[in-house]
Formats: sequence, structure tokens, C-alpha cells
Amino acid sequence: MAVAADKIRDRQRIIWDQFAAGWKKWDAELLDWHGPFGDAVIRDARLDPDSRVLDVAAGSGEPGLSAAALVPHGEVALTDISAGMLHVAEEKAAARALPNVSFRVCEAAELPFEDGTFDVVLCRFGFMFFPEVRAALREMVRTAKPGARISAAVWGRAAANPWASLILGTLAQHTELPRPPADIPGLFRCSAPGLMTRLFRDAGLLAVAERTVSTDLVHDSPESYWEFMTDIATTVATGLAQADEEVRSLIRSDVFQMLGRYEHGGSLRLRSTATIVTGIRA
Ligand SMILES: C[S@@+](CC[C@H](N)C(=O)[O-])C[C@H]1O[C@@H](n2cnc3c(N)ncnc32)[C@H](O)[C@@H]1O
Repeated sequence: MAVAADKIRDRQRIIWDQFAAGWKKWDAELLDWHGPFGDAVIRDARLDPDSRVLDVAAGSGEPGLSAAALVPHGEVALTDISAGMLHVAEEKAAARALPNVSFRVCEAAELPFEDGTFDVVLCRFGFMFFPEVRAALREMVRTAKPGARISAAVWGRAAANPWASLILGTLAQHTELPRPPADIPGLFRCSAPGLMTRLFRDAGLLAVAERTVSTDLVHDSPESYWEFMTDIATTVATGLAQADEEVRSLIRSDVFQMLGRYEHGGSLRLRSTATIVTGIRA
């Protein structure tokens, strides 16, 4: 692995360990909001009751824990680079008494499994953060059995995701931060239409298909939305941390003002759109 990739990976591990407490705090809201994306990833993966499933970058447990309930005669291995995030997943699995799950802290591009182990590989909102997207996909293909499905979700275009672009756009206006290079982890790194299809095809996957799924992030108040975002959205929170106190408070008041546009029936509803991509291991 190149030095730059090592640095990115280490930074991601530190950041996600720091944000694990936020993901635990907002677990119910995250399950609700991300539910349609996880359902789509699982649906396209076509699980059987005895499927052996790998969830890469499972974080606080999804979609792996939902998949575990659907494979009562199978098993699910949840993996993530952050021990802190995976610990939240372990606590949830214990609370639900799921008997068929296991947990491994590991890097997506170095999966500690034999060739051809899994019937299904899932990855929801992981690819955008991997230092080497192609290397991670190669590992998913290697550990999948011939005929296995690989099913993933990545965030779509910024314009279709005001839940994040509202703050990121305001941040950019106030700070004139340089645009990050395309290969640096960030929410919209994999958002170009057709990009994931091309990556999946280049990795030798067959019957590759890409579709879009949308839902809303719903909050009762600007304060609740802001607290949620700064607790869970690493790209947003690390961006805000680069601005000084005064600029951060300017950004906050600008965002609160703009949130009025997203008020419907007493709630804030911010569109959230993901690309779901699936392919079959040859
Ligand atoms: C947005 S969270 C997604 C968690 C979960 N899949 C979900 O959808 O709720 C992204 C996850 O990717 C993990 N991650 C980042 N870089 C990684 C890498 N190089 N290898 C494995 N996991 C990584 C993070 O630790 C974090 O848990």
C-alpha cells in the first residue's frame, strides 16, 4: 500500500473512532434515515436463508445486522477499520441476541478471509472513504464465491443531497477552502453517475446495474439538525473544525436561515439520495 493510502486509512480510523459515540447516540435516527438505502442494498443482494454474508465498512452495524435476521441458517461477518464503530455494532448485536454474526477490525483492501468465502458482499456508504477504492473492490471480489452478488451504496450528487451540501456549500463560501482532490475521502467522491458501474465492470463483475434511491433526513428543529450533523457527519464536522469560532457561528446562522426552505408541515425535510450498485462475481 502506498504511503498516502496508509495516511488516509489511519486518519479515517482516528476520525471514525472519534465519531462512534455520535453514531451510538443517534442510532435510532440513523436506522430510520438510512433504512431505505440499506433495504435497497439488501434487496439487490438477493439473500438466501443460508447465505454467508460479508459487510465491509459495517460501522455501527448496518446493513449487516439487518441481513443477519434474514439469513437464520447463514452467517454475517461485519468488518470495519474503526474498532470504536464496530464496538457499537457488537453492542447492538448483543442486545438483539443475534447468534449468527461475527466482527473483525480490518482495512477494506486487506480482508482477512480466504478466496471465495462469501455468497454475498454488502457495503453501505463505505467506498467514499477508502484510500484505494479499486483495491477494496478487488478484495470484495476475491473473497466472494463465483456467482456471489456484491451490492453497495454510495452518496449521489451534492445537488441531490442538501442534507449535507447545505452545510458544505456554506462552509466553502465562508472559508474558500481548496477543493479536495477527487481521490481524497469525502461524501461525494463516488457520486458521478456511472462511476460505480465502471468500477464494478473493471473489477470483472457481471450484470452490473446502478439505480438511485432517495429519502428525507427529517428533524424537528434547526438545532436538532445541526447537533446531528456535527455528531455524525465526519466530512461536515472536520470541515467545520478547520474554520475559526467566528466563521463557524456565521456558517451556523446562514444554514439556519436557509433551512426555512426545507420546512414542510412543521418538520425539516432534507433530500438524501444514494446510488445503489450491484454486480455478480464471475
Ligand atoms: C458512513 S460510515 C458507514 C457505516 C455503515 N455501513 C452504515 O451504512 O451505517 C463509513 C464507515 O467506513 C469505515 N471505513 C473508512 N475507511 C475504511 C477502510 N479503509 N476500511 C474499512 N472501513 C473503513 C469507517 O470506519 C466507518 O465506519
